[in-house]
Amino acid sequence: MVGGVQMAGNVDQWGANLSGRGVGSDNQNISVKEVSKMSIREEDRMSVRIDTSQIKEVETGKRQKVEVRGLNVYYGEKQVLYDLNVSFPERSITAIIGPSGCGKSTFIRTLNRLHELTEGARVEGTVLLDGHDIYAPEVNPVLVRRKIGMVFQKPNPFPNMTIYDNVVAGLKLQNIRDTEFLDEVVERTLRVVGLWDEVCDDLKGKRGTDLSGGQQQRLCIARAIAVEPEVILMDEPTASLDPQSTLIIEDLMRDLRKRYTVIAVTHNMQQAARVSDFTMFLYNGKQIEHGRTRDVFERPKEELTEHYITGRFG
Ligand SMILES: Nc1ncnc2c1ncn2[C@@H]1O[C@H](COP(=O)(O)OP(=O)(O)OP(=O)(O)O)[C@@H](O)[C@H]1O
Ligand SMILES: [Mg+2]
Repeated sequence: MVGGVQMAGNVDQWGANLSGRGVGSDNQNISVKEVSKMSIREEDRMSVRIDTSQIKEVETGKRQKVEVRGLNVYYGEKQVLYDLNVSFPERSITAIIGPSGCGKSTFIRTLNRLHELTEGARVEGTVLLDGHDIYAPEVNPVLVRRKIGMVFQKPNPFPNMTIYDNVVAGLKLQNIRDTEFLDEVVERTLRVVGLWDEVCDDLKGKRGTDLSGGQQQRLCIARAIAVEPEVILMDEPTASLDPQSTLIIEDLMRDLRKRYTVIAVTHNMQQAARVSDFTMFLYNGKQIEHGRTRDVFERPKEELTEHYITGRFG
């Protein structure tokens, strides 16, 4: 939802974008009628412009870390994702955007095999991590989830566990008990998420759930990176946070991309523009558009994308 988006940018470039562009053939059946009903008036367009001034230039030539090919996903008989084909380059952030119910959470849950924990859930197609199929029969899903971590919308520290125990929970599950090593991981990861100075005196005295919402989310990110993942999935990681905590997490996301491949669902267009290198737009389970964030926001190929990011529906 784009309400409250800061205004900036150049109206003319949006005007230019509207001309000579149709809806791609793959998407015709779901969008043409709706798009024709939603022509944007100039004054509306001005009021929902996204500030694209902070979008970074994307480094080119990076290796693809995660590749998705022909992905179809079902809950029982109901298909919710259709033939997705997208790649995520290493050390980059991709924002997944789209209206509620379009399949964003389902999609990222297929990327670390969390989806299959839902009864009746089924996946067809291929997801490659460093070129290896994570759905191959010999692959252990637990190891996949260690390499591809997840941060959820609502901070979910383990209840009744201290801050320290929350951070090392995944390592203890791997039977790692070396206290010197665990101490080092706790300090390092809490420093990465900017929480160390705030909690270092209370590591074993305070529970994770005693922290503020923003601190809890940073703790959950520390917990996710403690097991040394290579990819971090985030499902609306700031949706339940206040604006100041949101900005702290966004800064952290930008830092994380220096080391990890980050794939983050967001409803906040301004956030997608602020933090991501690439943007993927899903609608009704279909991939409408994917590309560099600057291109998607300033020169979307599909009219439906423009209607969504300018807040015509959501
Ligand atoms: N456990 C489930 N069983 C059956 N259908 C489901 C289940 N979870 C999600 N769905 C359906 O799958 C579709 C995609 O849902 P999903 O939660 O992935 O959407 P979303 O884009 O993340 O939405 P939101 O922005 O509201 O979080 C929806 O139609 C939803 O009703
Ligand atoms: Mg969701």
